[in-house]
Amino acid sequence: MSKKSSKDLGLIEGLHSTPARRYLSSDQIKDEVLMDLLDAAIRGPSGGNNQDWGWIILKDQKKKQLISDWYREGWQRAYGVRREGILNETDKSDTLGPKNYLSAEHLANNIQNAPVWIIAVLRNTASSGNPRAGASIYGAVQHLMLAARAHGIGATLTTLYSSHEEDVKKLLGIPKDAMTMALIPLGYPEKGRWAQPKRKPVSDIAFRDHWGQSIEYSKIR
Ligand SMILES: Cc1cc2nc3c(=O)[nH]c(=O)nc-3n(C[C@H](O)[C@H](O)[C@H](O)COP(=O)(O)O)c2cc1C
Repeated sequence: MSKKSSKDLGLIEGLHSTPARRYLSSDQIKDEVLMDLLDAAIRGPSGGNNQDWGWIILKDQKKKQLISDWYREGWQRAYGVRREGILNETDKSDTLGPKNYLSAEHLANNIQNAPVWIIAVLRNTASSGNPRAGASIYGAVQHLMLAARAHGIGATLTTLYSSHEEDVKKLLGIPKDAMTMALIPLGYPEKGRWAQPKRKPVSDIAFRDHWGQSIEYSKIR
């Protein structure tokens, strides 16, 4: 996979080479670049084009430190307690794998050092029972991460802070009706590469006309 990280990166090439990047340097990202990323994010879709979102650029180190502690609580509960099983590959419920586990653990321990966080906020969701509410922001979040990739900036969609949702909302003055939908730490990668993310093959998860009806790959080319 190409090491290109400039703005002339092809769209399809970018789609195929944007894994979660969790080893980030603390080098600052220029404000004009951040605005570029957000300007790309807001081109993403939302129901009825309602754009009921807000994007907080978080650099305040005290606030990041507080949220990091809440994030690590979530990490410990969800993954920290399973460390041995995941690293020995005896934990059958694991889907991350040892390498990604270590990278996610690194992020949990160092997330406060990512120079910038983006908090993606969606209005009118705190008491919405709509299971598809997030569809009105996650496309935009992915735009943001792909635009970051074009600038050579790494990102990960994270949610492990979310058992402290109300604390985060209070700390950042987020309206009551809204929810934080993701925290995206951004930074220039200091380890790892823009490699193709590993996935189950399309032939295992795509069906023709009926759930479970497999596609003979050779025929859809
Ligand atoms: C809803 C959701 C929540 C996630 N939360 C976290 C998180 O809190 N911390 C983290 O390190 N990665 C988080 N991720 C990133 C996933 O672990 C990542 O997308 C997955 O492992 C695939 O990574 P890859 O694209 O590098 O293969 C989250 C992703 C999604 C879609």
